[in-house]
Amino acid sequence: MAQITKKNYLCNKITMIKEIIEGKIKKGENVQIKGWVRNKRSSKIGIYFLSIYDGSCFNSLQVIAGNKLKNYKSEISILTTGCSVKVVGTIQKSLGSKQKFDLFSEDIKVFGFVKNPEKYPISPKNHSFEYLRKVSHLRSRTNFIGAVMRIRNTLFQEIHNFLCKDGYIWISSPIITTLNAEGAGKMFRVSTLNLLNITKNDYKKINFSKDFFGQESFLTVSGQLNNESYACSLGKVYSFGPAFRAENSNTSRHLSEFWMVEPEAAFLNLEEIIHTSERMLKHLFNSVLEKREDDLKFFYEKVDKKIISRLEKFVYSNFVHVEYTEVVKILKRCDQNLFNTKITWGMELSVEHERYLTENYFMSPIIVKNHPKEIKAFYMRLNEDNKTVASMDVLFPKVGELIGGSQREERLNELDKRLSITGLSKKEYSWYRDLRKYGTVPHSGFGLGFDRLVICSTGIKNIRESIPFPRTPSNAKF
Ligand code: 4AD
Ligand code: MG
Repeated sequence: MAQITKKNYLCNKITMIKEIIEGKIKKGENVQIKGWVRNKRSSKIGIYFLSIYDGSCFNSLQVIAGNKLKNYKSEISILTTGCSVKVVGTIQKSLGSKQKFDLFSEDIKVFGFVKNPEKYPISPKNHSFEYLRKVSHLRSRTNFIGAVMRIRNTLFQEIHNFLCKDGYIWISSPIITTLNAEGAGKMFRVSTLNLLNITKNDYKKINFSKDFFGQESFLTVSGQLNNESYACSLGKVYSFGPAFRAENSNTSRHLSEFWMVEPEAAFLNLEEIIHTSERMLKHLFNSVLEKREDDLKFFYEKVDKKIISRLEKFVYSNFVHVEYTEVVKILKRCDQNLFNTKITWGMELSVEHERYLTENYFMSPIIVKNHPKEIKAFYMRLNEDNKTVASMDVLFPKVGELIGGSQREERLNELDKRLSITGLSKKEYSWYRDLRKYGTVPHSGFGLGFDRLVICSTGIKNIRESIPFPRTPSNAKF
């Protein structure tokens, strides 16, 4: 086996463009970079200026390719956007005003040319988002999607950092389940039965005991119920993974497969879990401001002039806390022509209500608490008024609901009443009921829609641009 010596390690070391742009590499130092051509310019004096990106940061690095290079005519002259290269050279102070450093190349190796450059789907012009979704396997080559994905990654890392520091233990809740964690809503079925030849039993029903898991199984809508089981022994836990909802919601805020982080904590009540959610959001927006300045600058310039000031406001001002009942009063008092649906107590807030409250009335994120029990899931704790439950929805300008959570019903008799009223079977939820039978504790949790968080952090308009390969009704390509 080849020995890894310091010398051959250094020869093979690939420098990230981020390190060069951030000034971590000294002038005169020899480096090797690997990446893709964003642009090529030629000068009259036999030099090509190549703009190379490698995904490590927003900016590209300017590579100077002179006519002394052995493949100058045969290869460098025919490079186009999208070609992949390795460049070895020295860092020098740039004479241009746009960048601090250039890479003066001594050797350029081309890994792959772009065949038929005139047909390259990601040519350096402005493409519509609709078009880019049709080439989702190539769209990460654009500045735009690259910037979204780096911010998405920072948010992902910082969620783990925040919860870990706060004493939460990450658990992997299952993707395949037999229970509907929300007690309602359409789920995607998981089955290995032959759809083309399904055998039915005497009652003309499908015999799911013959199916792979021996009973009806689905993709999970939420890891919450499993998280509750672990919170009732490990104290504070969270899951972070995909959730699946087979609702036909073709909107700019819904995905059929979306990502959700779900913290669940024993011994915390509604107010305490609300406090956790607010601290977590502030930490996340602050991290984006601190760690992704380059990408945010791009969104500020090209997408949303208010994105940076809005994020700063999220970090430095407190969110408004307001009771559902109060929200209904506010909405009733304002001009009813503003809304298509007239609000009454007991109704779910519609998107237009949510937007009015966050964008016009409070002009801030708001946390709506204690909703009527009829519009909330069976597991939420009944309040003393017998009408409302200990729920919380965090609503944000532009995206609406970003977080949904609650204190959970920890009293077996109350839980049983809610199961029966909502038409759910005690037998199916028997393991969940066990948590109330054996040393029950007050506990609370919430679910944060991760892809919606990406919308809030970038100012992008559509959730389909927040995730690498969006899954929506009639679309699961790539
Ligand atoms: O409010 P939801 O349905 O709550 C739950 O699933 C709870 N079990 C969470 C918990 O308490 N552990 O969903 C939580 C969040 C929503 O606020 C929203 O941000 C996001 O998940 N979400 C979606 N995001 C994108 N596409 C969809 N179809 C979404 N459905 C919910
Ligand atoms: Mg909700």
